[in-house]
Amino acid sequence: MRAHFFIFLFIVSHCVSDEDVKSETGVEENYKLIKLSEVCTCSEIPDYDGTHLVLNVLCSELDRIENVADLDKVEWPPNPNGLKISAAFEGLGLTTLGKLPPNSQVESLRFSNNAIKTYWPDPFSDVPNLTKLSFAQNDLYVITPDLFTKIDRLEDLDLSYNKISDFNPLDFKHLRMVKKFNLQSNQLSKVPLESIMPMTALEHLDLSKNGIFDLLLQRTDGVGLSSLKRLYLNSNRIRSVTKHSFPADNKLELLDLSNNLIEIIEEDAFLPCTNLKELNLGQNNITLVFELPASLQIAIFKINTFYHWPKFPSGIKYIDLSYNRLTSLYDETSNNFQNLEILNIGGNQIKQLDIQKILSNLFILDISYNLLTEIPKTLSEQYLPSLEELRLDGNPIANIYFNNVMVLKTLHMSYMDKLMKVDDKAFSNVVGRGEDETEEQSNCFYLYLSNCQSLSEIHVGAFEGTTVCMLDVSKNNLTNLPQDLLPWSSVSAGINLQFNPWHCSCDLQWMVDQLIPYLYNTNSSYLLDDLRCGSPRAYQHLRLVHWYNWTDRAMCSNGYLRAGPHDTYILEASTEGNPFHMSTMTLILSISIAVSLTVAVVLIIYLVVTRKRYRIRRAALNRKRQSAIDAKHTNGTEKEQYAALNRT
Ligand SMILES: *[C@@H]1O[C@H](CO)[C@@H](O)[C@H](O)[C@H]1NC(C)=O
Ligand SMILES: *[C@@H]1O[C@H](CO)[C@@H](O)[C@H](O)[C@H]1NC(C)=O
Ligand SMILES: *[C@@H]1O[C@H](CO)[C@@H](O)[C@H](O)[C@H]1NC(C)=O
Ligand SMILES: *[C@@H]1O[C@H](CO)[C@@H](O)[C@H](O)[C@H]1NC(C)=O
Ligand SMILES: *[C@@H]1O[C@H](CO)[C@@H](O)[C@H](O)[C@H]1NC(C)=O
Repeated sequence: MRAHFFIFLFIVSHCVSDEDVKSETGVEENYKLIKLSEVCTCSEIPDYDGTHLVLNVLCSELDRIENVADLDKVEWPPNPNGLKISAAFEGLGLTTLGKLPPNSQVESLRFSNNAIKTYWPDPFSDVPNLTKLSFAQNDLYVITPDLFTKIDRLEDLDLSYNKISDFNPLDFKHLRMVKKFNLQSNQLSKVPLESIMPMTALEHLDLSKNGIFDLLLQRTDGVGLSSLKRLYLNSNRIRSVTKHSFPADNKLELLDLSNNLIEIIEEDAFLPCTNLKELNLGQNNITLVFELPASLQIAIFKINTFYHWPKFPSGIKYIDLSYNRLTSLYDETSNNFQNLEILNIGGNQIKQLDIQKILSNLFILDISYNLLTEIPKTLSEQYLPSLEELRLDGNPIANIYFNNVMVLKTLHMSYMDKLMKVDDKAFSNVVGRGEDETEEQSNCFYLYLSNCQSLSEIHVGAFEGTTVCMLDVSKNNLTNLPQDLLPWSSVSAGINLQFNPWHCSCDLQWMVDQLIPYLYNTNSSYLLDDLRCGSPRAYQHLRLVHWYNWTDRAMCSNGYLRAGPHDTYILEASTEGNPFHMSTMTLILSISIAVSLTVAVVLIIYLVVTRKRYRIRRAALNRKRQSAIDAKHTNGTEKEQYAALNRT
């Protein structure tokens, strides 16, 4: 559908009707549909603030739009109120851009998602008030100085996702007002310094996802992109940053150099960037530290090979040094982290954490995937008075115990392979941090303690004296859970016990009686989907919710023991699986078989016996017949005579 939207391309002459049309987003809007030609209609979308005329043209038969380059034939729609015009030529398969007819109201043009490769000279010379222009996702590979002419007011230019590998120094010579320029995803191999230089107002430059290998923002004479505030050079092939990279006293506030191949940064390379607030050097290969400008607030240095902490300025608020080679905490004597709010040092090789200087503003601390073997004593309200979120996942901690009071909203302790049991009082010193200090009720914390493959035991007193608002102990190796572990009905934000090999015996009947009805009736019922028995075998994989609302204490009855002599079949989660009924069936079947067998045996014996008797009788008969024959031979004639006499 979107591909068929077309703007003012065709002669806007026959306004036919007003219709209500449902927009693509499903929002009901009052479109004004204007028939433009045989194949196209133009729809006018009312602008929310009423200052713009937003036009779209729907063309039903794209094959018939042949000479789309013929833009000079376009007639702009009537615009009696002199509204500014925003128009988009998106997804039409345009290959050539024609010259646009005069209109001083046109403010924004989008040619995104076409296949534009060529253009007529000076295509925009009659739309002098154009401030926003997009050629994103086209096939432009070369730009000439006659493309961006007479649009001196242009402020926003998007050439992203094209095939441009180089520019002519005169290409943008008229674009002095451009503030935002997007060149993402082209084929540039260097920063097009000379061509961009005329854009003296340029503040935002996106050069990400090109093949740039050299970071150079100033010419040899020291002139550079001096007004630039935000520069994106991520996902290029830059190898080093030197003291010649940036012009002196530049205005850079944000610099993204992530995902390059940087190994070398000269020690004072960033010092000319006296306004730099955010520096992203993530995903490079940086080993040695360098100096940071005093203005820096956000430092993203993750996924590098730092062995030592860089020296951060005192205004630093956000440090991400995750996935480096750090083995210890920063040097507290030379760093002032008074303003630090977020510290992420996950994925390093830190064995000990000993904070002596208070981090009064820190609210997120991530020390996951390090080499901590116990919960550091330094994790206390005293040193971290504002902490809300603590991540300790993936550390080789075998024993959970918080020595000091720790006030938190969220505690993450998942993926701890060494953890086998959680002892009494493990979390007793963790106190929930309420939204509002005065609100007693909300002083509970969220605990994520999942994916600990060896964790098979949680002692009843683990949460003694503390309040949990959410408990996730899914994907552990738990077979049992004490009923009195928590006041379950006050764990309001969810209880996830899924993917554990629960032993479904009488000990766990309380789950069926209390927990399941509670979860079933809240919007946490999805947490019952994979709450299943791991043992005994007869119940393996059976969902606990199967017993929801059973009148008898199902897991306490021995019914399943009568289920079959081999204990092999699995009860289905349906009401028909009554074990008693099943054993009766088996009994009847066994009796039937026994009876049949008896009958068969009796029958065989009878047959054998009968046959023996028959043989004896036959033998006797034969003998009798023989003696009769013998007798006949002796006095047979007389007997025959007697017989004949009798017959007559
Ligand atoms: C548009 O441009 C004309 C001249 O090119 C100028 O007179 C007019 O003020 C401009 N209109 C707006 C809204 O900028
Ligand atoms: C990072 O540097 C090391 C040596 O310093 C090298 O062996 C490794 O290949 C580099 N990695 C990348 C992605 O360039
Ligand atoms: C999980 O617990 C069972 C006993 O209940 C044990 O045999 C098994 O080794 C445990 N798994 C792990 C990964 O510790
Ligand atoms: C349901 O879930 C939402 C968040 O997903 C939560 O704000 C709301 O309190 C929950 N309602 C109940 C009854 O648990
Ligand atoms: C469970 O039982 C309760 C009370 O006996 C009843 O209100 C509820 O509807 C039953 N739920 C289901 C799913 O059977």
